Amino acid sequence: MGFFAIFLLLSILFVSASFSSGEMQPKMGVCYGELGNNLPIPSKSIQLIQKLNAKRIKIYGTNPKILKAIQHTDIQISIMVPNQLIPAISTNQTLADHWVHSNVVPFYPKSKIRYLLVGNEILSNQPNSTWFKLVPAMRKIRYSVKKFGLKKIKIGTPLAMDVLESSFPPSNGTFRSDVREKVILPLLRFLDRTKSFFFVDAYTYFPWVSQPLQINLDYALLQLTNITYTDPGTNLTYNNLLDQMLDSVVFAMKRLGYPNIRLFLAETGWPNGGDLDQIGANVYNAATYNRNVVKKFMAKPPTGTPARPGTLIPTMIFALYNENQKPGQGTERHFGLLYPNGSHVYPIDLSGKTSVSEYPVLPEPKSNRKLWCVAADSANKTALAEAVSYACSQGNRTCDPIQPGGKCYKPNSLSKHASYAFSSYWTQLRTAGATCFFNGLAVMTSKDPSYGSCKYPSVNL
Ligand SMILES: *[C@@H]1O[C@H](CO)[C@@H](O)[C@H](O)[C@H]1NC(C)=O
Ligand SMILES: *[C@@H]1O[C@H](CO)[C@@H](O)[C@H](O)[C@H]1NC(C)=O
Ligand SMILES: *[C@@H]1O[C@H](CO)[C@@H](O)[C@H](O)[C@H]1NC(C)=O
Ligand SMILES: *[C@@H]1O[C@H](CO)[C@@H](O)[C@H](O)[C@H]1NC(C)=O
Ligand SMILES: *[C@@H]1O[C@H](CO)[C@@H](O)[C@H](O)[C@H]1NC(C)=O
Ligand SMILES: *[C@@H]1O[C@H](CO)[C@@H](O)[C@H](O)[C@H]1NC(C)=O
Ligand SMILES: *[C@@H]1O[C@H](CO)[C@@H](O)[C@H](O)[C@H]1NC(C)=O
Ligand SMILES: *[C@@H]1O[C@H](CO)[C@@H](O)[C@H](O)[C@H]1NC(C)=O
Repeated sequence: MGFFAIFLLLSILFVSASFSSGEMQPKMGVCYGELGNNLPIPSKSIQLIQKLNAKRIKIYGTNPKILKAIQHTDIQISIMVPNQLIPAISTNQTLADHWVHSNVVPFYPKSKIRYLLVGNEILSNQPNSTWFKLVPAMRKIRYSVKKFGLKKIKIGTPLAMDVLESSFPPSNGTFRSDVREKVILPLLRFLDRTKSFFFVDAYTYFPWVSQPLQINLDYALLQLTNITYTDPGTNLTYNNLLDQMLDSVVFAMKRLGYPNIRLFLAETGWPNGGDLDQIGANVYNAATYNRNVVKKFMAKPPTGTPARPGTLIPTMIFALYNENQKPGQGTERHFGLLYPNGSHVYPIDLSGKTSVSEYPVLPEPKSNRKLWCVAADSANKTALAEAVSYACSQGNRTCDPIQPGGKCYKPNSLSKHASYAFSSYWTQLRTAGATCFFNGLAVMTSKDPSYGSCKYPSVNL
């Protein structure tokens, strides 16, 4: 009995000691994407990362120059098996061994490789046989990592929020039915058994930008206001959108019988710019969001989320640089903390030691909080003219200013008239359910289309 009690006491002491050091200290990370043709070389990039006070980085491959450059620093790194290798590795232990032997072994332990991610958001693509090979590939990679005695490396795979078919209310969080049984269940079993993390990429920007009038901007930016949401399923109260998103993953895992797998926020961020008509994407909002992320996730003791108060969630901000070769909308190329020339897009300190009020105040963007509904650049002219007649037939004097002699009649261009008609229709009838869509002919913009004495009606965010 006595021996047992002492043994128990020692293990408790040991456990609490390991909780207060190493992995359990908050460390902010940054995602070091390399999709730019104008980015600094790895050794210079590592200096910039140290100046940001980032303690972790994630790379989207295994660039040996980066792995070399972090030796003799305290930066921990997460590396990645490319998506294309998953099918071959899933059935070939020799290949898994070969991959680990050539990409990890030469650098470990001098390079502090801590996470080995298998693929990137692979469940977000079109239905694809690679999905079902993911967990088998993770098992093979883990077997190799153990075989080579690389003790500190956890295996995971980062998934985007679209693995959930429902995320609202958070307690209704549910994994997509097309992957739930055959991919997610074995994945959760693997992560649980290996004490790894569920790596999730979660951006409040995307739900906000698709519903900017339903979701308060400050709530998405993690600005503490009096806005709260209480989940009717749990009575848990939320004061920001990110906690809601993270807890929806927690509840989705719980629904499948895994209530305790830790979360790792593998990517989060906010765009500092984009195409002209992309709302909310500006330096002011990006600085606000990312500074709030640092404050939240570097807090000691950790704040956690309403479903898991006090838990530490390791976090990586996307991204180190604005990357000019990322495909997709303009915002995709504007997530950086730094410009490619290495200068800050806005001041930020990832150590958590600079309080939000200590940063120099940034000018609020001009039209940041107003929205107009304008004709999309590529809109079909015939359909656009039809939509204008419809919009003008609704509401009260909706199109008076674009009639001959009106303040917005000249220049007599279909696209300008349509933008006026859409904005006027939308601002008047929005509360009655009107949307800024017109079958894809209309888009929301935060750039004021007004000119001269022609003022377009707007909606306040
Ligand atoms: C299937 O998904 C993988 C991983 O995302 C990707 O590399 C591959 O090109 C996809 N294949 C098809 C046929 O779409
Ligand atoms: C497994 O991978 C190894 C190493 O790349 C390769 O030599 C071998 O041919 C592969 N085996 C099969 C069955 O594909
Ligand atoms: C809960 O999730 C299911 C799908 O899993 C969805 O059909 C339902 O609408 C959601 N409930 C609410 C209140 O959103
Ligand atoms: C929240 O605060 C704003 C101003 O700070 C105020 O206008 C609003 O009435 C408050 N709402 C609630 C529900 O307290
Ligand atoms: C939430 O709170 C209300 C009012 O206090 C109570 O009636 C309800 O049972 C609670 N629901 C849950 C899920 O705890
Ligand atoms: C770096 O690039 C940004 C954006 O192009 C520019 O505004 C800034 O002046 C540049 N800084 C230096 C030191 O060249
Ligand atoms: C443009 O819209 C009109 C009317 O909606 C439709 O009949 C026509 O096929 C469309 N043209 C193109 C190129 O899509
Ligand atoms: C239409 O708008 C005018 C002012 O612009 C207002 O006097 C009038 O009452 C409105 N009519 C309706 C039906 O809302």
